[in-house]
Amino acid sequence: MRASLVLLLLRPTRAGDCIDMNFCNGHGHCEPATDTCDCYEGWGAKTDVALYKLHDCSGRTCPSGPAWADVASDSKTAHAPAECSGKGTCNKATGTCKCVSGFSGDACQRFGCLYDCSGHGQCVSMKKMATMPNALPLSKPATYTGLETTERWDQDRIYGCVCDSSWPVGLGPGQRQEPEWFGPWCSLRHCPSGDDPYTTHVDETNCTGVTAAGGYGVGEKGNLCQVDCANRGKCDTETGECSCWTGSYGHDCTLLSALAR
Ligand SMILES: *[C@@H]1O[C@H](CO)[C@@H](O)[C@H](O)[C@H]1NC(C)=O
Repeated sequence: MRASLVLLLLRPTRAGDCIDMNFCNGHGHCEPATDTCDCYEGWGAKTDVALYKLHDCSGRTCPSGPAWADVASDSKTAHAPAECSGKGTCNKATGTCKCVSGFSGDACQRFGCLYDCSGHGQCVSMKKMATMPNALPLSKPATYTGLETTERWDQDRIYGCVCDSSWPVGLGPGQRQEPEWFGPWCSLRHCPSGDDPYTTHVDETNCTGVTAAGGYGVGEKGNLCQVDCANRGKCDTETGECSCWTGSYGHDCTLLSALAR
């Protein structure tokens, strides 16, 4: 009688209520038979993909995506779901991934667009890029879609920069074959363009019938080529300004100095 009373005082409530786990912290329910917490989704549920779970349901799990690198389970199966796609750390307090450099998205499921395209470009998926007539190398818009688990797995996972330009870019009339900003993350800038004054018989800015860099597309009638500093000076791609060689001047080096005549 006395012994059972002491036990009752030491253990004021009966077993099976998860008291030792703070009643599952309000983020799960207690399994009385085993005195363990069955956590809710996002708090360590059995179905949650997480590197580790807190069994008192006190820590969140983070979004998951196909692992960027993992062990293939057979000759055709890999990229199993992983917390933060295996490219970020999970903040258990907020349930958010902190992705390593170059990766983005709530589950770090995207890669690309370093340095946020330097503030001079648009970060787009390969699927979107295929449809853009101003993305380099210039080509006819295409569709790049299909089964994400196999051949087009990169369509919405790998991203790239399509650089900004103050002039229209493309293969059409009035459009130029190069954008103002360029480079893998749009950090470089083209200089003013002009027709070389020394070659009077040819207009280098005329890109009619000229195959664009990359070899996919050809300039339509009235299409323009970007000719930095009219081929008569050096383009400073950091500032986008020309330093003209002796004999030429002007912001685009299209003017001939009297000395050169
Ligand atoms: C541009 O080049 C095309 C093809 O060589 C030619 O037919 C056209 O007259 C040129 N346009 C101008 C404005 O020089």
